[in-house]
Amino acid sequence: MTFVSAIAFDDAVAVPFGAAFARHPGFVIGEETPADVEAREALLDAAFGPARFLKTCERLRAGRLPARGLALSAHEGERLIATLRLWPVRAGAGRPALLLGPLAVAQDRQSLGLGAAMIRSALSRAKARNHRAILLVGDEPYYARFGFERRLAEGLTMPGWVDPARFLGLELAPGALKDAHGRVSAAAPAAPECALPRAA
Ligand SMILES: CC(C)(COP(=O)(O)OP(=O)(O)OC[C@H]1O[C@@H](n2cnc3c(N)ncnc32)[C@H](O)[C@@H]1OP(=O)(O)O)[C@@H](O)C(=O)NCCC(=O)NCCS
Repeated sequence: MTFVSAIAFDDAVAVPFGAAFARHPGFVIGEETPADVEAREALLDAAFGPARFLKTCERLRAGRLPARGLALSAHEGERLIATLRLWPVRAGAGRPALLLGPLAVAQDRQSLGLGAAMIRSALSRAKARNHRAILLVGDEPYYARFGFERRLAEGLTMPGWVDPARFLGLELAPGALKDAHGRVSAAAPAAPECALPRAA
């Protein structure tokens, strides 16, 4: 496995890249900056369309700031080619966790291992910041390879309908989601007005 140093603004993390990704050393993963926001929103529009604002997960993200150090971008030169953010939530009463997503990779840069590199970078950064558990709503066939399991989110509900087969959890600290039950709620601070993207 090849290790490439990812550039971040307040911490640098060694990111393990798969063989395919290693063929593209021009990709750099780092923390998102305000200069990334417009390109990030365009990438998310292209990946999910305007319906992205209607997703249940959006109720835990809208108007809030992502977790510190866990809004990531990948660049190829000046171009933003992937985005991933994680958000503070409570996985039932008194149990802090993160919500992962949205993740998107530019269509012409998919299947090169970039999505995996983004997730692995996010997981190692989250662990370094002492986060204990991560939830997401996504395709199990993709996310299972990173250790996400349906079983770990079984006792939890989201603040709206989600397909139970796509509601997954991952423990960064062993037992962090043991017996987790109740509703997932937002725990992120409100974003200042100027930091909010406009809905399509
Ligand atoms: C899903 C996505 C992030 C994956 O990024 P990527 O850089 O293409 O993924 P990787 O290169 O790490 O992995 C590619 C592998 O994952 C598989 N894969 C991709 N999406 C998948 C999915 N939804 N379910 C199962 N497998 C999937 C590919 O078939 C490929 O398999 P292979 O390695 O056997 O060829 C990217 O396709 C994307 O942005 N899609 C549109 C937005 C989206 O669906 N985001 C995820 C929900 S939040």
